[in-house]
This record gives sequence, structure tokens and C-alpha cells, in this order.
Amino acid sequence: MRDRFRARFEGGGNPVPTEDIGALFDRIADRYDAMNLVISGFQEPRWRRRLVQATQLEAGMAAIDVATGTGKVAASLADRVGTFGHVLGVDVSDRMVARARAEHADRIEMEFLIADALDLPAGDATFDAATIAFGMRNLPDYRRGFEEMLRVVRPGGRVVCLEIARPRSLIGRLGLVWFERIVPRLGSLIGQGRAYACLVDSVRGYPTPDEIAAVMRAAGLVDVAWAPLTFGMVTLHVGVRPAGPPSEVAGPALEAAG
Ligand SMILES: C[S@@+](CC[C@H](N)C(=O)[O-])C[C@H]1O[C@@H](n2cnc3c(N)ncnc32)[C@H](O)[C@@H]1O
Repeated sequence: MRDRFRARFEGGGNPVPTEDIGALFDRIADRYDAMNLVISGFQEPRWRRRLVQATQLEAGMAAIDVATGTGKVAASLADRVGTFGHVLGVDVSDRMVARARAEHADRIEMEFLIADALDLPAGDATFDAATIAFGMRNLPDYRRGFEEMLRVVRPGGRVVCLEIARPRSLIGRLGLVWFERIVPRLGSLIGQGRAYACLVDSVRGYPTPDEIAAVMRAAGLVDVAWAPLTFGMVTLHVGVRPAGPPSEVAGPALEAAG
């Protein structure tokens, strides 16, 4: 009970050090996109479309994609903002960022930097939206992850998070069995069983969708809402940065979450 309370109000986080997470993704970077498509049951492009839609970005706007990996979400955001817009993708894994740069070298509106989600390389209110896809569960402090995304979006801008969930529906739970049992074996086929087992663990420790919504409010976001996708196997969370500095809104939002 006490742990649940802490998870709700402090946000919780992945106990694996960020350096180790970065090294893990360095090891799987070359096969990441293909594996991701198989692991998601070929749903990943559909989930990505929903995430990008939820940003409400328009042509010429700017966005940041946190924990960008090979930059697939960043590229879809760039399609939306067009060549007069700007999309920054950041990730702690050198290999992931190298792949993102190589794959999107022809896109002048896209930029990739090696950076930690908890210390984003951008000033306050720089972007119209911030996204994170399958990255939040890797962070050592979920609340700080949302606070940092809130900091870099302008008032009225959206923070959008797509993440694997622990579904309640029967079909969703079957999907989770696939993820927990089969994914480490698929990882073993490419010599990365331990890395994929570690990814499965990060889902086990992740808060429920309602708890993540509470963490987002505690971080200072308003109008927080979430939707289950594909029988609740993943959830899409959206929050808005209110007017006024984050430090002034974080207190009342935390109390309201209770
Ligand atoms: C499961 S992948 C998701 C990649 C991409 N967003 C996608 O949807 O395909 C998680 C990514 O989070 C990155 N990551 C983990 N911890 C991070 C941190 N503290 N800061 C920035 N990136 C991080 C990893 O290096 C990895 O590329």
C-alpha cells in the first residue's frame, strides 16, 4: 500500500541505472526497428499515428521527441510540421542516435542529439509539443520525466506519452503473455535474450494508466487524459502545460491528485 502511495505521488521510476539502459539499447540498436514491429504484432505504425495525432501539431511548429530511438516518431512528427517546422529527437544511446541520424539524413527539419530525458538540451517553452514513445518506463524518475517535458513545451502545448500497459481485458492479457514469455525468446534468437528480458521487467514495474495520469498531474500538467489502444496493451496519455510557470502549478496539482 505504502509503495502504491509512493508510486502515485512521487511517480516511481525504473531502478536500472540510465547508463546501463543506454548500453542495453546500444547493443540492440541495429535490429531494434524490425524487432519492434514483430513484438508489437505489427501495430506500432498505428500506435505511432495516434500519438502524432494527439500532439495537435500544425505546419511550421516545433516538437521534441524524447527517447527517440531510431527516430521513427520524430520522422512522423516532422511529416506533420513540414519543412518549415523543427523536430528535435534526443536519446541516451549513442548507437540509436547514430542510426536516427543516418536514416533521416535528408530531412533538414530534423535534428538528433545524445541527451538524457531528465536534462533536456532545450530552454523553457521551446516547443509546441513533446512526445515520448516506449521510453517513459526506462526513466529512473517518471515524474521528473514529465516535469522536464512540461518545462520545454509552451503554455498550451501538449505532452504525449505512449507506453506498454498492463491490460485488464482477456485479449489484452494474452498479448501481455506474448510480450512476457515470447519476447525474451525472440531476443535470444538474435543473441540478446537478457536485454529483452530487461525490457519485459521494465513493463512489470510500470504504474497503471490511472497512476501515470496522477503522476502527470503531480508534474504540473492539466487536462490529463488517457486512452487504451489495442485491447489496452498500450496506453496513450496526453496532458497540457497550463499558463504560468511549472513551479506555481505543481503544488496544487499534486494536492488535487489526492
Ligand atoms: C523502447 S526504445 C523506444 C524508441 C522510440 N521512441 C520508439 O518508439 O521506437 C526506448 C529508448 O529510450 C531511450 N532511453 C532510455 N533512457 C533514457 C533517458 N534517460 N534519456 C533519454 N533516452 C533514454 C533508449 O536508449 C531507447 O532508445
